[in-house]
Amino acid sequence: MSDNVTTQHKTAACIGGGVIGGGWVARFLLHGWDVNVYDPASDAKRKLDAVLENARAALPALADVAMPSEGKLTFCDTLEAAVTNAHWIQESVPERLDIKHAVFAQVQAACLDSAIIGSSTSGFKPSQLQENALNPQQIMVAHPFNPVYLLPLVELVPSPINNPEIIEQAKTLLTSIGMKPLHVRKEIDAHIADRLLEAVWREGLWMIKDGIATTSEIDDAIRYGFGLRWAQMGLFETYRIAGGEAGMAHFIAQFGPCLEWPWTKLMDVPELTDELIATIAQQSDEQSGHHTIRELERIRDKNLIGIMRVQKDNNWGVGELLNQHDQRLKQLG
Ligand SMILES: NC(=O)c1ccc[n+]([C@@H]2O[C@H](COP(=O)([O-])OP(=O)(O)OC[C@H]3O[C@@H](n4cnc5c(N)ncnc54)[C@H](O)[C@@H]3O)[C@@H](O)[C@H]2O)c1
Repeated sequence: MSDNVTTQHKTAACIGGGVIGGGWVARFLLHGWDVNVYDPASDAKRKLDAVLENARAALPALADVAMPSEGKLTFCDTLEAAVTNAHWIQESVPERLDIKHAVFAQVQAACLDSAIIGSSTSGFKPSQLQENALNPQQIMVAHPFNPVYLLPLVELVPSPINNPEIIEQAKTLLTSIGMKPLHVRKEIDAHIADRLLEAVWREGLWMIKDGIATTSEIDDAIRYGFGLRWAQMGLFETYRIAGGEAGMAHFIAQFGPCLEWPWTKLMDVPELTDELIATIAQQSDEQSGHHTIRELERIRDKNLIGIMRVQKDNNWGVGELLNQHDQRLKQLG
Protein backbone atom coordinates (compact mmCIF):
# COMPACT_ATOMS: atom_id res chain seq x y z
CA MET A 1 0.00 0.00 0.00
CA SER A 2 1.64 3.20 -1.10
CA ASP A 3 -0.30 6.05 0.48
CA ASN A 4 -1.40 6.92 3.98
CA VAL A 5 -3.57 4.12 5.33
CA THR A 6 -5.34 6.39 7.79
CA THR A 7 -7.03 8.50 5.12
CA GLN A 8 -10.66 7.81 4.35
CA HIS A 9 -12.24 6.27 1.25
CA LYS A 10 -10.06 3.26 1.14
CA THR A 11 -11.73 0.16 -0.20
CA ALA A 12 -12.08 -3.12 1.66
CA ALA A 13 -13.37 -6.34 0.17
CA CYS A 14 -15.16 -8.74 2.49
CA ILE A 15 -15.35 -12.26 1.11
CA GLY A 16 -18.05 -14.02 3.11
CA GLY A 17 -20.62 -11.84 4.85
CA GLY A 18 -21.86 -14.13 7.63
CA VAL A 19 -21.56 -13.57 11.38
CA ILE A 20 -17.92 -12.49 11.19
CA GLY A 21 -17.77 -11.10 7.65
CA GLY A 22 -20.81 -8.93 8.44
CA GLY A 23 -19.05 -7.53 11.50
CA TRP A 24 -15.98 -6.65 9.41
CA VAL A 25 -18.19 -4.94 6.82
CA ALA A 26 -19.73 -2.82 9.57
CA ARG A 27 -16.38 -1.87 11.16
CA PHE A 28 -14.85 -0.76 7.83
CA LEU A 29 -17.99 0.98 6.59
CA LEU A 30 -18.53 2.94 9.82
CA HIS A 31 -14.91 4.09 9.63
CA GLY A 32 -15.53 5.65 6.22
CA TRP A 33 -14.16 2.84 4.06
CA ASP A 34 -15.96 1.79 0.90
CA VAL A 35 -16.75 -1.91 1.23
CA ASN A 36 -17.32 -4.50 -1.49
CA VAL A 37 -18.98 -7.69 -0.30
CA TYR A 38 -19.08 -11.04 -2.03
CA ASP A 39 -21.19 -13.82 -0.52
CA PRO A 40 -23.06 -16.28 -2.76
CA ALA A 41 -25.79 -17.11 -0.16
CA SER A 42 -29.24 -15.95 -1.25
CA ASP A 43 -30.03 -14.47 2.19
CA ALA A 44 -26.62 -12.83 2.70
CA LYS A 45 -27.89 -9.30 2.13
CA ARG A 46 -30.79 -9.68 4.56
CA LYS A 47 -28.46 -10.98 7.29
CA LEU A 48 -25.91 -8.26 6.64
CA ASP A 49 -28.59 -5.55 6.87
CA ALA A 50 -29.52 -6.83 10.35
CA VAL A 51 -25.88 -6.74 11.51
CA LEU A 52 -25.43 -3.24 10.08
CA GLU A 53 -28.53 -2.02 11.89
CA ASN A 54 -27.10 -3.22 15.21
CA ALA A 55 -23.63 -1.86 14.42
CA ARG A 56 -24.93 1.62 13.52
CA ALA A 57 -26.63 1.78 16.91
CA ALA A 58 -23.61 0.45 18.80
CA LEU A 59 -20.23 1.57 17.46
CA PRO A 60 -20.86 5.35 17.46
CA ALA A 61 -21.98 5.02 21.12
CA LEU A 62 -18.38 4.19 22.02
CA ALA A 63 -16.92 7.35 20.51
CA ASP A 64 -16.93 10.82 22.09
CA VAL A 65 -16.08 12.44 18.76
CA ALA A 66 -17.80 12.36 15.38
CA MET A 67 -17.29 9.19 13.39
CA PRO A 68 -16.33 9.54 9.71
CA SER A 69 -19.22 9.53 7.24
CA GLU A 70 -20.15 6.01 6.32
CA GLY A 71 -18.48 4.59 3.21
CA LYS A 72 -20.26 3.10 0.23
CA LEU A 73 -21.44 -0.50 0.45
CA THR A 74 -21.51 -2.56 -2.75
CA PHE A 75 -22.79 -6.12 -3.07
CA CYS A 76 -20.81 -7.74 -5.88
CA ASP A 77 -21.96 -10.56 -8.16
CA THR A 78 -18.47 -12.00 -8.42
CA LEU A 79 -15.52 -12.33 -6.11
CA GLU A 80 -13.28 -10.78 -8.77
CA ALA A 81 -15.38 -7.61 -8.90
CA ALA A 82 -15.16 -7.32 -5.12
CA VAL A 83 -11.38 -7.52 -4.87
CA THR A 84 -9.96 -5.74 -7.93
CA ASN A 85 -9.64 -2.29 -6.34
CA ALA A 86 -9.43 -3.33 -2.67
CA HIS A 87 -6.62 -2.29 -0.33
CA TRP A 88 -7.61 -4.80 2.35
CA ILE A 89 -9.28 -8.10 1.58
CA GLN A 90 -10.82 -9.97 4.50
CA GLU A 91 -11.67 -13.62 4.00
CA SER A 92 -14.46 -14.86 6.32
CA VAL A 93 -15.73 -18.00 4.55
CA PRO A 94 -16.51 -21.26 6.41
CA GLU A 95 -13.72 -22.84 8.46
CA ARG A 96 -12.56 -25.35 5.83
CA LEU A 97 -9.07 -25.25 4.42
CA ASP A 98 -10.12 -26.38 0.92
CA ILE A 99 -12.69 -23.57 0.66
CA LYS A 100 -10.19 -21.00 1.96
CA HIS A 101 -7.50 -22.17 -0.51
CA ALA A 102 -9.96 -21.94 -3.41
CA VAL A 103 -10.95 -18.42 -2.33
CA PHE A 104 -7.31 -17.25 -2.05
CA ALA A 105 -6.58 -18.59 -5.56
CA GLN A 106 -9.51 -16.59 -6.96
CA VAL A 107 -8.61 -13.51 -4.93
CA GLN A 108 -4.96 -13.51 -5.95
CA ALA A 109 -5.80 -13.91 -9.64
CA ALA A 110 -7.65 -10.57 -9.47
CA CYS A 111 -6.38 -8.38 -6.62
CA LEU A 112 -3.77 -5.62 -6.42
CA ASP A 113 -0.22 -6.81 -5.61
CA SER A 114 -0.19 -4.22 -2.84
CA ALA A 115 -3.39 -5.47 -1.17
CA ILE A 116 -3.23 -7.26 2.18
CA ILE A 117 -5.30 -10.41 2.54
CA GLY A 118 -6.46 -11.13 6.10
CA SER A 119 -8.13 -14.39 7.06
CA SER A 120 -10.66 -14.55 9.91
CA THR A 121 -9.78 -18.19 10.57
CA SER A 122 -10.21 -19.27 14.19
CA GLY A 123 -7.93 -22.25 13.91
CA PHE A 124 -5.68 -22.52 10.84
CA LYS A 125 -2.10 -21.34 10.93
CA PRO A 126 -0.99 -18.77 8.33
CA SER A 127 1.49 -21.24 6.82
CA GLN A 128 -1.42 -23.63 6.16
CA LEU A 129 -3.42 -20.85 4.51
CA GLN A 130 -0.42 -19.88 2.37
CA GLU A 131 0.14 -23.42 0.96
CA ASN A 132 0.24 -23.34 -2.87
CA ALA A 133 -0.77 -19.68 -2.98
CA LEU A 134 0.23 -17.50 -5.93
CA ASN A 135 1.72 -14.90 -3.58
CA PRO A 136 1.86 -16.45 -0.11
CA GLN A 137 3.42 -13.47 1.62
CA GLN A 138 0.30 -11.36 0.92
CA ILE A 139 -1.78 -13.62 3.21
CA MET A 140 -1.91 -13.61 6.99
CA VAL A 141 -4.35 -14.39 9.78
CA ALA A 142 -6.42 -11.46 11.09
CA HIS A 143 -8.63 -13.22 13.63
CA PRO A 144 -11.34 -10.96 15.12
CA PHE A 145 -13.92 -11.46 17.86
CA ASN A 146 -17.67 -11.30 17.63
CA PRO A 147 -19.10 -8.60 17.41
CA VAL A 148 -16.27 -7.42 15.17
CA TYR A 149 -17.70 -3.89 15.00
CA LEU A 150 -17.40 -3.48 18.80
CA LEU A 151 -14.58 -5.66 20.12
CA PRO A 152 -11.16 -4.24 19.23
CA LEU A 153 -9.01 -7.37 19.50
CA VAL A 154 -7.67 -8.85 16.27
CA GLU A 155 -5.00 -11.54 16.44
CA LEU A 156 -2.58 -10.78 13.64
CA VAL A 157 -0.67 -13.97 12.88
CA PRO A 158 1.98 -13.93 10.15
CA SER A 159 4.13 -16.90 9.15
CA PRO A 160 7.91 -16.58 8.83
CA ILE A 161 7.55 -15.67 5.15
CA ASN A 162 5.53 -12.48 5.70
CA ASN A 163 7.96 -9.59 5.60
CA PRO A 164 8.06 -7.12 8.51
CA GLU A 165 6.87 -4.27 6.27
CA ILE A 166 3.53 -5.90 5.41
CA ILE A 167 3.00 -6.83 9.07
CA GLU A 168 3.54 -3.18 10.09
CA GLN A 169 1.18 -2.00 7.32
CA ALA A 170 -1.46 -4.41 8.56
CA LYS A 171 -1.06 -3.19 12.15
CA THR A 172 -1.36 0.45 11.11
CA LEU A 173 -4.40 -0.20 9.03
CA LEU A 174 -6.21 -2.23 11.70
CA THR A 175 -5.39 0.42 14.30
CA SER A 176 -6.89 3.08 12.00
CA ILE A 177 -10.28 1.32 12.20
CA GLY A 178 -10.14 1.22 15.99
CA MET A 179 -8.77 -2.29 16.44
CA LYS A 180 -6.08 -3.64 18.74
CA PRO A 181 -3.82 -5.83 16.62
CA LEU A 182 -2.18 -8.45 18.83
CA HIS A 183 0.85 -9.66 16.90
CA VAL A 184 1.06 -13.42 17.53
CA ARG A 185 4.79 -13.92 17.11
CA LYS A 186 4.80 -17.73 16.75
CA GLU A 187 2.11 -19.36 14.68
CA ILE A 188 0.09 -21.93 16.59
CA ASP A 189 -3.17 -23.79 15.92
CA ALA A 190 -6.10 -21.64 17.14
CA HIS A 191 -3.81 -18.69 18.00
CA ILE A 192 -3.88 -17.38 21.60
CA ALA A 193 -7.42 -16.47 22.63
CA ASP A 194 -9.21 -19.53 21.30
CA ARG A 195 -6.71 -21.80 23.03
CA LEU A 196 -7.81 -20.26 26.30
CA LEU A 197 -11.49 -20.30 25.40
CA GLU A 198 -11.40 -23.93 24.30
CA ALA A 199 -9.90 -24.99 27.61
CA VAL A 200 -12.76 -23.34 29.51
CA TRP A 201 -15.38 -24.61 27.06
CA ARG A 202 -14.15 -28.21 27.30
CA GLU A 203 -14.31 -28.04 31.08
CA GLY A 204 -17.87 -26.66 30.85
CA LEU A 205 -18.94 -29.52 28.56
CA TRP A 206 -17.67 -32.02 31.13
CA MET A 207 -19.63 -30.38 33.91
CA ILE A 208 -22.84 -30.61 31.88
CA LYS A 209 -22.15 -34.21 30.88
CA ASP A 210 -21.43 -35.20 34.49
CA GLY A 211 -24.63 -33.45 35.67
CA ILE A 212 -22.70 -31.03 37.88
CA ALA A 213 -23.98 -27.78 36.41
CA THR A 214 -26.36 -26.51 33.72
CA THR A 215 -25.49 -24.05 30.94
CA SER A 216 -27.07 -21.28 32.99
CA GLU A 217 -25.18 -22.15 36.19
CA ILE A 218 -21.88 -22.24 34.32
CA ASP A 219 -22.64 -18.87 32.74
CA ASP A 220 -23.50 -17.43 36.19
CA ALA A 221 -20.17 -18.69 37.54
CA ILE A 222 -18.49 -16.58 34.87
CA ARG A 223 -20.59 -13.45 34.67
CA TYR A 224 -21.11 -12.75 38.35
CA GLY A 225 -17.46 -13.29 39.18
CA PHE A 226 -14.27 -13.89 37.28
CA GLY A 227 -15.72 -12.77 33.93
CA LEU A 228 -15.95 -9.23 35.32
CA ARG A 229 -12.35 -9.41 36.49
CA TRP A 230 -11.14 -10.81 33.18
CA ALA A 231 -12.90 -8.04 31.25
CA GLN A 232 -10.65 -5.39 32.70
CA MET A 233 -7.45 -7.09 33.83
CA GLY A 234 -7.23 -10.45 32.14
CA LEU A 235 -5.80 -13.52 33.86
CA PHE A 236 -2.33 -12.70 35.09
CA GLU A 237 -2.88 -9.18 36.36
CA THR A 238 -5.91 -10.48 38.28
CA TYR A 239 -3.82 -13.24 39.86
CA ARG A 240 -1.10 -10.76 40.75
CA ILE A 241 -3.62 -8.96 42.95
CA ALA A 242 -4.88 -12.29 44.32
CA GLY A 243 -1.37 -12.88 45.68
CA GLY A 244 -1.80 -9.86 47.98
CA GLU A 245 1.17 -7.63 48.71
CA ALA A 246 3.55 -10.52 48.09
CA GLY A 247 2.30 -10.54 44.48
CA MET A 248 2.66 -13.08 41.73
CA ALA A 249 5.39 -15.29 43.14
CA HIS A 250 3.36 -15.78 46.33
CA PHE A 251 0.22 -16.54 44.33
CA ILE A 252 2.00 -19.25 42.35
CA ALA A 253 3.58 -20.72 45.49
CA GLN A 254 0.13 -20.89 47.09
CA PHE A 255 -2.03 -22.12 44.22
CA GLY A 256 0.44 -23.57 41.71
CA PRO A 257 0.54 -26.99 43.38
CA CYS A 258 -3.27 -27.29 42.89
CA LEU A 259 -2.64 -27.57 39.17
CA GLU A 260 -1.24 -31.02 39.88
CA TRP A 261 -4.40 -32.08 41.67
CA PRO A 262 -6.95 -34.01 39.61
CA TRP A 263 -9.35 -31.08 39.27
CA THR A 264 -9.28 -30.84 35.54
CA LYS A 265 -10.39 -33.14 32.77
CA LEU A 266 -8.65 -31.02 30.20
CA MET A 267 -6.73 -33.83 28.60
CA ASP A 268 -9.98 -35.57 27.62
CA VAL A 269 -12.80 -34.25 25.52
CA PRO A 270 -16.30 -35.49 26.28
CA GLU A 271 -17.77 -37.28 23.29
CA LEU A 272 -20.38 -35.02 21.72
CA THR A 273 -23.08 -37.70 21.64
CA ASP A 274 -26.61 -36.88 20.42
CA GLU A 275 -27.70 -37.11 24.06
CA LEU A 276 -25.14 -34.56 25.30
CA ILE A 277 -25.90 -32.18 22.45
CA ALA A 278 -29.66 -32.46 23.15
CA THR A 279 -29.07 -31.76 26.86
CA ILE A 280 -26.99 -28.66 26.12
CA ALA A 281 -29.46 -27.39 23.51
CA GLN A 282 -32.42 -27.91 25.86
CA GLN A 283 -30.69 -26.16 28.76
CA SER A 284 -29.70 -23.31 26.49
CA ASP A 285 -33.31 -22.95 25.26
CA GLU A 286 -34.53 -22.84 28.86
CA GLN A 287 -31.88 -20.25 29.69
CA SER A 288 -32.27 -17.88 26.74
CA GLY A 289 -34.97 -19.15 24.38
CA HIS A 290 -37.32 -16.28 25.37
CA HIS A 291 -35.02 -13.84 23.53
CA THR A 292 -34.41 -13.80 19.78
CA ILE A 293 -30.76 -13.85 18.66
CA ARG A 294 -31.10 -10.23 17.50
CA GLU A 295 -32.44 -9.22 20.95
CA LEU A 296 -29.54 -11.01 22.62
CA GLU A 297 -27.12 -9.23 20.29
CA ARG A 298 -28.56 -5.84 21.24
CA ILE A 299 -28.42 -6.65 24.97
CA ARG A 300 -24.82 -7.87 24.53
CA ASP A 301 -23.87 -4.72 22.60
CA LYS A 302 -25.34 -2.37 25.24
CA ASN A 303 -23.54 -4.22 28.04
CA LEU A 304 -20.25 -4.23 26.13
CA ILE A 305 -20.55 -0.49 25.50
CA GLY A 306 -21.17 0.12 29.21
CA ILE A 307 -18.23 -2.05 30.29
CA MET A 308 -15.91 -0.36 27.79
CA ARG A 309 -17.15 3.15 28.65
CA VAL A 310 -16.29 2.74 32.33
CA GLN A 311 -12.76 1.83 31.28
CA LYS A 312 -12.72 4.89 29.03
CA ASP A 313 -13.45 7.05 32.08
CA ASN A 314 -10.55 5.35 33.88
CA ASN A 315 -8.33 5.43 30.77
CA TRP A 316 -7.64 1.75 31.45
CA GLY A 317 -7.17 -1.24 29.13
CA VAL A 318 -9.64 -1.17 26.28
CA GLY A 319 -10.73 2.32 27.44
CA GLU A 320 -7.24 3.73 26.87
CA LEU A 321 -7.35 2.33 23.34
CA LEU A 322 -10.77 3.93 22.73
CA ASN A 323 -9.51 7.30 23.98
CA GLN A 324 -6.53 7.10 21.62
CA HIS A 325 -8.90 6.19 18.79
CA ASP A 326 -11.07 9.24 19.56
CA GLN A 327 -7.97 11.43 19.13
CA ARG A 328 -7.26 9.74 15.79
CA LEU A 329 -10.85 10.28 14.61
CA LYS A 330 -10.70 13.93 15.71
CA GLN A 331 -7.63 14.49 13.55
CA LEU A 332 -9.38 12.90 10.57
CA GLY A 333 -12.57 14.96 11.01
N1 LIG B 1 -18.43 -17.15 14.62
C1 LIG B 1 -17.42 -16.74 15.35
O1 LIG B 1 -17.58 -16.43 16.57
C2 LIG B 1 -16.04 -16.55 14.76
C3 LIG B 1 -15.12 -15.73 15.46
C4 LIG B 1 -13.88 -15.44 14.87
C5 LIG B 1 -13.57 -16.02 13.64
N2 LIG B 1 -14.47 -16.86 13.00
C6 LIG B 1 -14.05 -17.40 11.69
O2 LIG B 1 -14.66 -16.62 10.68
C7 LIG B 1 -14.90 -17.43 9.51
C8 LIG B 1 -16.38 -17.32 9.14
O3 LIG B 1 -17.15 -17.78 10.23
P1 LIG B 1 -18.66 -17.28 10.46
O4 LIG B 1 -18.99 -17.63 11.88
O5 LIG B 1 -18.84 -15.89 9.99
O6 LIG B 1 -19.45 -18.29 9.49
P2 LIG B 1 -20.87 -18.05 8.77
O7 LIG B 1 -21.35 -19.39 8.40
O8 LIG B 1 -21.73 -17.15 9.59
O9 LIG B 1 -20.46 -17.23 7.45
C9 LIG B 1 -19.75 -17.78 6.38
C10 LIG B 1 -20.25 -17.09 5.13
O10 LIG B 1 -19.39 -17.44 4.03
C11 LIG B 1 -20.21 -17.55 2.88
N3 LIG B 1 -19.48 -18.33 1.88
C12 LIG B 1 -19.40 -19.68 1.73
N4 LIG B 1 -18.58 -19.97 0.69
C13 LIG B 1 -18.15 -18.78 0.17
C14 LIG B 1 -17.31 -18.42 -0.92
N5 LIG B 1 -16.72 -19.35 -1.67
N6 LIG B 1 -17.10 -17.10 -1.16
C15 LIG B 1 -17.69 -16.15 -0.40
N7 LIG B 1 -18.50 -16.44 0.64
C16 LIG B 1 -18.73 -17.74 0.93
C17 LIG B 1 -21.49 -18.21 3.39
O11 LIG B 1 -22.57 -17.97 2.48
C18 LIG B 1 -21.68 -17.52 4.73
O12 LIG B 1 -22.50 -16.35 4.64
C19 LIG B 1 -14.44 -18.84 9.89
O13 LIG B 1 -13.14 -19.04 9.41
C20 LIG B 1 -14.45 -18.83 11.42
O14 LIG B 1 -13.51 -19.72 11.97
C21 LIG B 1 -15.69 -17.10 13.52
